[in-house]
Amino acid sequence: LPTGTDLLAEIARLKQERKAVILAHYYQRPELQDLADFVGDSLELSRKAADTDAEVIAFCGVKFMAETAKILSPDKIVVLPDMEAGCSLEDSCPPEKFAAFRERHPDHIALTYINCSTEVKALSDIIVTSSSAETILSQIPPEQKIIFGPDRHLGGYLSRKFNREMLLWPGVCIVHEAFSETELLKLKAQHPGAPVAAHPECPPAIIDHADYVGSTSGILQFAKTFPGQTLIVATEPHIIHQMEKALPEKTFIGAPGADGNCNCNICPYMALNTLEKLYTALRDLMPRVEIEEGLRLRAKRSLDRMLEMAS
Ligand code: 13P
Ligand code: SF4
Repeated sequence: LPTGTDLLAEIARLKQERKAVILAHYYQRPELQDLADFVGDSLELSRKAADTDAEVIAFCGVKFMAETAKILSPDKIVVLPDMEAGCSLEDSCPPEKFAAFRERHPDHIALTYINCSTEVKALSDIIVTSSSAETILSQIPPEQKIIFGPDRHLGGYLSRKFNREMLLWPGVCIVHEAFSETELLKLKAQHPGAPVAAHPECPPAIIDHADYVGSTSGILQFAKTFPGQTLIVATEPHIIHQMEKALPEKTFIGAPGADGNCNCNICPYMALNTLEKLYTALRDLMPRVEIEEGLRLRAKRSLDRMLEMAS
């Protein structure tokens, strides 16, 4: 394999040769964010995947994101540098169990977080991302009963904010679940006045201390506009790369886990993607996302509803 600058040059060459676009999520390693054509949150990346005229989408993110790109752009080749890049929320929600849950509640619609399998999307009515959930929920009549899965913390946050009961699937993101309230309070005491920005995948004990709650792009926007000098960031710490690039004179500190540092909050799935694996994915056009057409069309219905309702 090429190394160093040769590796970067080879990726750039292959990208052109394959007519590929590189999309990356904010939780990717900085070197992948830096060479991507577009870096964004889950909703923005879905829109980019749906709109691109590239022939190949090299998706630096996790499997459900690459699958979303394939559902929305079936004629493109979609490669994911490491097919093992899953998500604890997806793992928490096996389709057969979700189908049985739905059957037990026939008068409920399923409003489902995009962090789930294609099969679960096919069993859902409307998909949401963390940046679109509030806009979409506000369009659903108050009398309509709702199942929300698979993230019980995002569901709980929405439920409290909208004062609206929802049946919650018991999944969690292992990354956001690992933040420690005790360590966060110690950090706040060391940086008096520093605001906390948190992702709604955090448990309520962390959200309760947040000055801003929102998606990765929302948190980034907050980081660009808050008036202070130091910000505590309660989400996957690789997003800090974009903050430091945009505002080098400010200080961004990742919220801590129980060991007092933020390294335990690195998403192990996102971290599987590397420059080397991106290079081989572009070279071999593998590993490739493939979805059976009937399943794709069923999953597309709930994703299309998200794209219509989110705008
Ligand atoms: P957003 O980028 O949509 O906020 O999602 C965060 C996330 O957990 C992606 O896995
Ligand atoms: Fe899944 Fe959490 Fe990793 Fe996002 S950060 S991919 S929700 S495990």
